[in-house]
Amino acid sequence: MPTPHNNAEIGDIAPVVIMPGDPLRAKFIAENYLEKPVCYNEVRGMYGYTGTYKGKRISVQGSGMGIPSMSIYSWELFNIYDVQTIIRTGTAGAIADNVNLRDIIIAMSASTNSAYATQYNLAGTYAPTASWKPLSEAVRITESKNIPYHVGNIFSSDTFYNDSDNLSEWQKMGVLGIEMETAGLYMNASRSGKNALCILTVSDCPLKNLSTTAEERQSGFRTMMEIALETGINL
Ligand code: HPA
Repeated sequence: MPTPHNNAEIGDIAPVVIMPGDPLRAKFIAENYLEKPVCYNEVRGMYGYTGTYKGKRISVQGSGMGIPSMSIYSWELFNIYDVQTIIRTGTAGAIADNVNLRDIIIAMSASTNSAYATQYNLAGTYAPTASWKPLSEAVRITESKNIPYHVGNIFSSDTFYNDSDNLSEWQKMGVLGIEMETAGLYMNASRSGKNALCILTVSDCPLKNLSTTAEERQSGFRTMMEIALETGINL
């Protein structure tokens, strides 16, 4: 077992990995979308599977919640397992006024309040950014599906419960939505010379006190997964 967190042997994982936050979603995708899925990881219940989608080899693995968890798994995928592209799929809270429940957000960039970038000793503020090829491909595929979507900057927060949430300040800066993982993924991809993208469905609007039902989340999740899988096999 090459890492403390992943049972996979070198070669078990495909060059493209779809990463939902919830490992049970990874299991669901493997069982419902992949042909001949093989489970390569069960450590800490962070399921990972490799199978094929429309004849192309692809993997799906949970990331867990927050930048620290996402960063451990994505670092190992890029640097130990030589994964070329990670596509995160997740949920977000809407921040921009024109972003509605169930909309899709494709994260071109991810602002953050995390200190993750301090390890790089940069004399300035780093801008975590998606990779162009998966970004442009996901936009093309989403466009063809005729569903409401937004492409832009999101906010990767270190906190879900926050004593002094200032989402309206992020709203003034044109930020589309809030989630908790993407900035770490984009920094790991850049530092590793690899590729990353994040696709989100809007599960709630914290500034308007709205949220989707479990059923709505499930169908939004299916749409997002199909965009991610189609993007993944076209890279
Ligand atoms: N905050 C942080 N992460 C989230 C949210 C939120 O409101 N909604 C979905 N993911």
